[in-house]
Amino acid sequence: MTDVNVKLDALPGLDPNALPLEVKNLQVEFRTRNGIAHAVNGVSFDLRAGETRAILGESGCGKSVTAQAIMGILDTPPGFVTGGEILYRGVDLLKLPESERRKVRANRIAMIFQDALSALNPVFTVGFQLAELFRKHRGMSRQDAKARAIELLDLVKIPAARQRVNDYPHQFSGGMRQRVMIAMALALDPEVLIADEPTTALDVTVQAQIMALLAELQQERNMGLVLITHDMGVVADVADRISVMYAGRVIEEAGVDDIYASPAHPYTKGLLESIPRLDLKGQELSAIKGLPPALTNLPSGCAFNPRCRYAQDVCRKDPAPSLLQVSPSRTAACHFWKEVKGDE
Ligand SMILES: Nc1ncnc2c1ncn2[C@@H]1O[C@H](COP(=O)(O)OP(=O)(O)O)[C@@H](O)[C@H]1O
Ligand SMILES: [Mg+2]
Repeated sequence: MTDVNVKLDALPGLDPNALPLEVKNLQVEFRTRNGIAHAVNGVSFDLRAGETRAILGESGCGKSVTAQAIMGILDTPPGFVTGGEILYRGVDLLKLPESERRKVRANRIAMIFQDALSALNPVFTVGFQLAELFRKHRGMSRQDAKARAIELLDLVKIPAARQRVNDYPHQFSGGMRQRVMIAMALALDPEVLIADEPTTALDVTVQAQIMALLAELQQERNMGLVLITHDMGVVADVADRISVMYAGRVIEEAGVDDIYASPAHPYTKGLLESIPRLDLKGQELSAIKGLPPALTNLPSGCAFNPRCRYAQDVCRKDPAPSLLQVSPSRTAACHFWKEVKGDE
């Protein structure tokens, strides 16, 4: 590979020994005509180098808003970060001026989106868009930048990269476009990659290929990956730890094996039971009944109580407990986690 030997400006307060990402008690609200929606309501999680942290939950629970807040690309207004910290190697990104934030976004924490077509610019070739990154952020010559673009397309296993570098986004299939997105995200060698439902728009075979590619690149680069998904099936093979979100909160946090062996929150359990299983062919899926609540109109008590088969009076009256320690390495926000874990 061409040497990318340009040093980044030092970030004041950067601690190389601190974790690549720590989100602490993050609060994001949307001020809308229908009232205030607490889209992210005290979310905390961390990410080690080389680790995959899955953020899992049904649509509307605050996953993308969390990612947008980390990237500093929240739609403001109506969205506002109203509290918490987002630490990159000990530096609180929320306190950085926008000029510094932009550098972090380009070089250190990158993101790929569900919809690759709308994330790429339709009027420029894929090669031009990749080369621009190197020209702008690394000061490379046109020729070097193009060579580097071809290397990157090779890296994400796009066949005939040397020719395809001159094609426009619409000339690529959905899966190949998502590979281009990955190439763009990895171009400047970030330490953290946030992938927001990166395979949702693709068919199942292509999904598996893209996930395998992401996992491979992540390992090669010892990069931290935040994998956002609503699909519990996707995370089983690739995630190390999982944060399950519901209505703007993390309601369970654990290692992937613990979650699969014995979920401790009724919502996680419901998500698990709704994965189609080949060994139980013909058996009815017990998907969770009902829909997540509107964030401007949460039910009283625990936000999940109307859909919960474990719910008691306390769950309808009192707010859900904050995350309770289930074991040294896992937490769940449910009074009845013992019952939930126990009755397999
Ligand atoms: N641009 C917006 N304007 C108003 N509310 C928004 C906007 N974006 C997100 N929200 C609110 O935040 C909630 C969480 O959205 P999001 O993070 O996109 O969910 P998901 O978990 O599906 O990614 C939505 O249900 C909505 O209430
Ligand atoms: Mg989303």
